Amino acid sequence: MAFGIEMGLGLDGQGIGQPARLDLEELLATRLLVQGNSGSGKSHLLRRLLEQSAGHVQQVVIDPEGDFVTLAEAHGHLVVDGSHGEGDLQAIAARVRGHRVSVVLDLESLDMEAQMRAAAAFLGGLFEAERAHWYPCLVVVDEAQIFAPAAAGDVSDEARKIALGAMTNLMCRGRKRGLAGIIATQRLAKLAKNVAAEATNFLMGRTFLDIDMARAADLLGLDRRGAERFRDLARGEFVALGPALSRRPLALRIGPVTTSSRAASPTLIPLPQAADADLRAQILAPAEAGFAYPTRASR
Ligand SMILES: Nc1ncnc2c1ncn2[C@@H]1O[C@H](COP(=O)(O)OP(=O)(O)O)[C@@H](O)[C@H]1O
Ligand SMILES: [Mg+2]
Repeated sequence: MAFGIEMGLGLDGQGIGQPARLDLEELLATRLLVQGNSGSGKSHLLRRLLEQSAGHVQQVVIDPEGDFVTLAEAHGHLVVDGSHGEGDLQAIAARVRGHRVSVVLDLESLDMEAQMRAAAAFLGGLFEAERAHWYPCLVVVDEAQIFAPAAAGDVSDEARKIALGAMTNLMCRGRKRGLAGIIATQRLAKLAKNVAAEATNFLMGRTFLDIDMARAADLLGLDRRGAERFRDLARGEFVALGPALSRRPLALRIGPVTTSSRAASPTLIPLPQAADADLRAQILAPAEAGFAYPTRASR
């Protein structure tokens, strides 16, 4: 039986005010790429998708910011801390497939290289699971440019290679194994081309840079004018295209979510009065003996 994930409301043409649905079975076969600048509403969109489909399909979330751990309480996702060893992560991932439980891999406490290694190990475990366990499963990767970077960065070549390999397997060869990649990125130009190219469904949010706009137009088969509209989208608005979404580009506004995000938008809070002498002395006091701030690497 076909099941449509209600993502929000259509905004243009015939679609005004009509619920925009994402066909789950089609999505399992054709994968999804979400792109939009930071703050455009990608994580909100992923949360909406996950909440709306939680009772219908197994879900795995690769979560670099620890944003999705709140799904555990509402929908029973198992939270797996990324600090487990790589062998353990691989074994956990294989068991997750056998038992068909939904999980969030929380990578927030790790530095980027460790995030890449942990995600690669976990994705590898999902991918290598025995054939009897190839059940359909959505694999959501937020900030996918971390795991499938287009260019060499600050991390070791080895870490980049294994993460990119795992992401390529997910997007290119995952389908036969029941794995449906859903990846989100803030910069299309920073995401490895072969990984992006495997998605045939797109949700394009607000985009400013010409280079990202050009990549988006290229992927969607739009001319430059067609892609220019991505500049004017508001937060939470996306243009949908693909067999699981809409055969023509359709603008839609993503609906509300029920679980909370830990990453709230910054809001202005009144500043305290100017520092008085007492406060100045407190702030400038020498550090207490034996006290040191933890560095990121030692956390
Ligand atoms: N469709 C929406 N409806 C209501 N609020 C939204 C919507 N999309 C995003 N937001 C809010 O905007 C902020 C930024 O969204 P977020 O999903 O974190 O952006 P991104 O992941 O693209 O950086 C968040 O506080 C989020 O709750
Ligand atoms: Mg986000």
